[in-house]
Amino acid sequence: MALSAAALRRYLLLLAQEHLEFRLPEIKSLLSLHGGQFSGEQEIRVNSPFWILNIPSEEMARGLMKRTVCAKSIFELWGHGRSAGELYASLKSYPVDKMLPYLQSDSTYKIHIHTFNKTLTQAQKIKKIDALEFLPFKGKVNLKKPEHIFWILEDYGMDPNNVPEEPFHLYFGRWIADGQRELIESYSVKKRHFIGNTSMDACLSFIMANHGGVKPNDVVYDPFVGTGGLLISSAHFGAYVCGTDIDYNTIHGLGKATRKNQKWRGPDENIRANLRQYGLEKYYLDALVSDSSRPIWRKGMLFDAIITDPPYGIREATRRTGSQKETDKTAERSTENHIFVSSSYHLSDIFFDLLKFAAEHLVMGGRLVYWLPIYRPEYTEEIIPRHPCLKLISNCEQMLSSHTSRRLITMEKVKEFKYSSSQAPHGHVKSMLIISLGDGSLSEVTRRQ
Ligand SMILES: C[S@@+](CC[C@H](N)C(=O)[O-])C[C@H]1O[C@@H](n2cnc3c(N)ncnc32)[C@H](O)[C@@H]1O
Repeated sequence: MALSAAALRRYLLLLAQEHLEFRLPEIKSLLSLHGGQFSGEQEIRVNSPFWILNIPSEEMARGLMKRTVCAKSIFELWGHGRSAGELYASLKSYPVDKMLPYLQSDSTYKIHIHTFNKTLTQAQKIKKIDALEFLPFKGKVNLKKPEHIFWILEDYGMDPNNVPEEPFHLYFGRWIADGQRELIESYSVKKRHFIGNTSMDACLSFIMANHGGVKPNDVVYDPFVGTGGLLISSAHFGAYVCGTDIDYNTIHGLGKATRKNQKWRGPDENIRANLRQYGLEKYYLDALVSDSSRPIWRKGMLFDAIITDPPYGIREATRRTGSQKETDKTAERSTENHIFVSSSYHLSDIFFDLLKFAAEHLVMGGRLVYWLPIYRPEYTEEIIPRHPCLKLISNCEQMLSSHTSRRLITMEKVKEFKYSSSQAPHGHVKSMLIISLGDGSLSEVTRRQ
């Protein structure tokens, strides 16, 4: 049931200024995971680091911060304005009974100043803090371990070459919680046991799990699992994880190492060991060798989310198992003496197979999150593959070069899958173009038909 505007409380979200397009879908997805709703009335300037959210409770705000990697902190908003005068007027109209529990004489507090796009001197900061003496603070200042922390946040705009004298927006609020930005460092691929050429960056992996609405006890599947980078973020959020990959060596942790100065993979370089590294082994179900164009799952097998990074490059070639005829023509022997058979697997087929698989094997309301490579000059939303059972939830671009990018697509299952041809996927991902990426490697990208 939607809450009336009066029942909602105002919170200020301080966001990190990276992956800008991915932030709104992350926050929306996490709010709905915590039973909330992102109302159209939210006062959001999409590229700004400051968003005002209207949500029902502090509990929901805390829940959001336990998951987000896009937001740094959240505050109970006591006042805001476009000038110091407006901020003070807004603070004076904030109900005193809502302030008092945090201003008691037996409590301790401190006031912190955060500025965006400007650095203030200590003297300027003190002046701004002193100007708030009209607030009924009764507690003692404690700079080291205060019970309550209040923040003045000032927004000096986005242009570093044109910083105004006075901020464009000012906010004052009570700090409630920080987000999960530290996961980006603690799960960094640089420090990971088992990696490959295309292991997913930690921040994006967490964003994907958040876009996918992954919850504790979910079962999450990655059909192009590689080194399991995407399993790790879902397992961190308490989901049981499994995956498949066509590459025998990757699944079994064999073959050549990706790291410089190391020739072969070590004895414990595998997906299970990756999860163990982070204390997440109990969430690991299994990883199997399998070709996603020939799924191995029985009918009725359901996943709560499918989160994946399909192959789309020459660095990680697209291939699938071939027929006997193709086998005779294309049998290859890898450098590690493991024989695999492959024929080319067209990009369009990969995505259509993936959508069909998701439509059939997701629970109702379950999400598919995947990357789609794009040739930017020809991009239109029509290029995004569709399936009648899947609703497009979000579509965020990450630039790779001036002409190429990849888009993180999130879809939700909204309709039961029927084993009939009338529910085939459709879209315009038909022809491919091989282009050169900035780092010298080649990639296939999606073009219009
Ligand atoms: C972009 S990588 C995934 C990387 C992975 N997210 C990670 O963190 O290591 C794509 C993977 O798809 C696999 N692959 C290619 N064709 C496949 C197919 N037909 N079926 C299953 N896996 C396939 C490749 O072996 C590769 O490991």
